[in-house]
Amino acid sequence: MQIKIAPSILSSDFADLKNELKKLELAKADLVHIDVMDGNFVDNITIGAPVVSSLRKNSTLFFDVHLMVLHPEKHIEKFVQSGADNITVHAEATYHLDALLSKIKSFGKKASVALNPATPVYMIENVLEIVDMVLVMTVNPGYGGQKFIPYTLKKIEMLANLREKEGLSFEIEVDGGINEETIVDCVNAGANVIVAGSYVFDSGNVSKSIEVLRSKVQS
Ligand code: DX5
Ligand code: ZN
Repeated sequence: MQIKIAPSILSSDFADLKNELKKLELAKADLVHIDVMDGNFVDNITIGAPVVSSLRKNSTLFFDVHLMVLHPEKHIEKFVQSGADNITVHAEATYHLDALLSKIKSFGKKASVALNPATPVYMIENVLEIVDMVLVMTVNPGYGGQKFIPYTLKKIEMLANLREKEGLSFEIEVDGGINEETIVDCVNAGANVIVAGSYVFDSGNVSKSIEVLRSKVQS
């Protein structure tokens, strides 16, 4: 599967988001990862649908929206209207995952499911045939700049094996603690969509960081 680099704007300058997205376009990012936090499912509060709408008017990038919110079903329409291309919901945050994923797909958007590090893969086995992507959290959600949790690699492998066994086509995304070393382990385990926040933005050179990440996993 094609390796895609998805910089997370969580670590970017929120006062200058328009230009941060321009930088990502110039750097040929494959997606932009937008972290939505509600202060309930996770501690922080970040970006809401109005901000995504404003960004949409200023960017043609693929918007990969990661909802770290309780009861995401309450917010789907707003994020669809805001111009999200993919909407990822946490399996732990809703009682009716199948209904929620189907709802997202009914709007013609990509629908994906995320798992916290401690949540086992079997929780989502039954929906694998309807999702476009599985997001394996490689840190506990809520903050950028955390350390990668190694046991999550086993979950990536399990998902890649299940995908092959069942003849499915969902992508596997990783999020949290990605750097030039952990990206190699994740891709070897079977991930192909790579979220990176602090690694990309803290360097001061977005293009160079994306290029280095790509170079580590080019086949
Ligand atoms: C964490 C977010 C991530 C975050 C990753 O809860 O979901 O997308 O931006 O940040 P880094 O790459 O710094 O670990
Ligand atoms: Zn994220």
